[in-house]
Amino acid sequence: MAELGLTYVRVGEFAWSRLEPRDGELRFEWLDEAVDILASAGLQVVMCTPTATPPKWLIDKFPEILPVDPGSGRTRGFGSRRHYDFSSDVYLHEALRITEAMAIRYGSHDAVVGWQTDNELCCHDTTLSASDAARTAFQHWCREQYTTIDALNTAWGNVFWSMEYQGYSAIELPVGAVTETNPAHRLAYRRFSSAKVIEFHDRMVEVIRSHAPGKFVTHNFISTAGTGVDNFALAAPLDFTSYDNYPLGRADIKFRDSPAEEFRKYMRTGHPDFATYSHDQIRGLSKDGFWVMEQQPGPVNWAPNNPRPAPGMIRLWTLEAFAHGADCVSYFRWRQAPFAQEQMHAGLLRPDNSKAAAWQEVEQAIADVASLNILAESKRRASVALVTGAESYWVSDIERQSESYEFDDVQFGYYHALRSIGVSVDFVSADADFSAYVLVVAPGLPIIDDAFVEKCGQSEATFVFGPRSGAKTQEFGYPKNLPPGPLQRIAPLRVLSVETLRPDCVEGLSWNGKRYDSLIWREQLDAPDGDVLAQYDDGAPAVVRFGKIIYAGTLTSAEFLRDFFRQLCEELGIVTHEFGADVRIEQRGNLMFAFNYSGEEQELPLDEKAEVLLGSRSIKPYDVTVWRTLVR
Ligand code: GAL
Repeated sequence: MAELGLTYVRVGEFAWSRLEPRDGELRFEWLDEAVDILASAGLQVVMCTPTATPPKWLIDKFPEILPVDPGSGRTRGFGSRRHYDFSSDVYLHEALRITEAMAIRYGSHDAVVGWQTDNELCCHDTTLSASDAARTAFQHWCREQYTTIDALNTAWGNVFWSMEYQGYSAIELPVGAVTETNPAHRLAYRRFSSAKVIEFHDRMVEVIRSHAPGKFVTHNFISTAGTGVDNFALAAPLDFTSYDNYPLGRADIKFRDSPAEEFRKYMRTGHPDFATYSHDQIRGLSKDGFWVMEQQPGPVNWAPNNPRPAPGMIRLWTLEAFAHGADCVSYFRWRQAPFAQEQMHAGLLRPDNSKAAAWQEVEQAIADVASLNILAESKRRASVALVTGAESYWVSDIERQSESYEFDDVQFGYYHALRSIGVSVDFVSADADFSAYVLVVAPGLPIIDDAFVEKCGQSEATFVFGPRSGAKTQEFGYPKNLPPGPLQRIAPLRVLSVETLRPDCVEGLSWNGKRYDSLIWREQLDAPDGDVLAQYDDGAPAVVRFGKIIYAGTLTSAEFLRDFFRQLCEELGIVTHEFGADVRIEQRGNLMFAFNYSGEEQELPLDEKAEVLLGSRSIKPYDVTVWRTLVR
């Protein structure tokens, strides 16, 4: 590791059965030795709590730790990982006990510079559980949220289908019913489950901090799309956030249904906006910068198909993360394990200790980072903010209305359009301070409150709202004044009706004399006082503007979003760039980076005077060019 030039080594995230082989029998000697060996080689250690893998003896002692799958009602058993229930007080106690023992042992060890809590909280669909413990905890949560049972019945609309409860102890989890359960009930279950994860995590951070003063605490996040957890709240007690970057594995899943001819070119690179879509989201949760805690170094084992990265991509992904604000990129894993579930997962070393293909690319990336002095460059704030939040995911999951409306796809579509015209994006929550932004884009914020509307009204920024904005009340009702509900105060329009269509039954949208697609989600808008920017085929308004507020009532194509944002950015003085196909650019401090995701060499349209620091003006396939810029 030292020979390669690594700085940090993360250890211990699944080591409970060795740290405590039997109840109460703590065995730290082997880990002490490992930490000391790493320290003597000049390496710094990130210690993890091993709580993602409660050992067998603990499960046998307290089987109620196991979570219950809300879909099937089956207990999810021992034998892999993440087999615990966030509502189990027994598990909370045990998790804090092992955390405290580790924090006491390593909290002030000089070589242990920081901590990672658990591992990828809520991965493998583990946010929700339908256990008895979850049901009881949900009843308590409901009691705290709604003071009386009548208030809860009214808030949820339980008079419908005779769903009224007589007391809190009668409340069920919204699972296992004959047909669709009440969306308000399901939203409450999502809010409760997310809050439970956050409570578990907050307690763990507290314990670590009390024994490890001055050390950083982070967590390797899964994005909200994969967990349904409010990541902004989860990140709140951390020093910075981390992300596990698997561009090929995740792309193989996300683009599963794309035709082969579209997918093939990204098969060994990942989509050019896909890794950074996550980097930018994870950075948005953080107080300052972020880490890539795991970077894919070769084929993985868990996606439907597991190709090898194209030569150059490990270095490209590494430099790309730094360009987007990372302070560290760490690789998973060091050595391919010749046993158990991940034996087909590449490492920097093969099981026979020979150097895998990634080794040389990592070596090169380390040299590049040093020669460019990337870490000394400030992390830039973008001019464009994209507003996101867990409730956007919850609402679209709970109320499908169209099986093709996937909030994450909608959000990715907006992000992709902005990135493809060279615009940098910050992800923010609805309660962020927007004052530094010129343009604020909300692809779909179904639940908004008055404070948010007031903030938008007072802001200098221009706002773009996607369809479904303001479409639900706090309790998942239909706004009586019609959608976009409270947004009507600054965007005086009414959504008269919503239709959803099969994604392949596309209709038209006219803008600037050109015809684009209107698809999947189409709102009929009544906006007598707005400037109609785009129209449906029948001439009805589809995109309407009220000064600084723009409302789009339909989903549309990448082409429309790109053209539309290009023009809007121009109007607002936000610089756009047209680089070649599948070339992406990003700025960090005074460094400008170009990343070539395509298999073609491409000429970069650089100013003659641009000082190229790395690579060349003619960028090779899967290569990186960096030049100095004075524009901030
Ligand atoms: C991550 C996880 C690692 C390992 C890796 C495999 O989700 O944190 O422990 O399983 O995936 O790619």
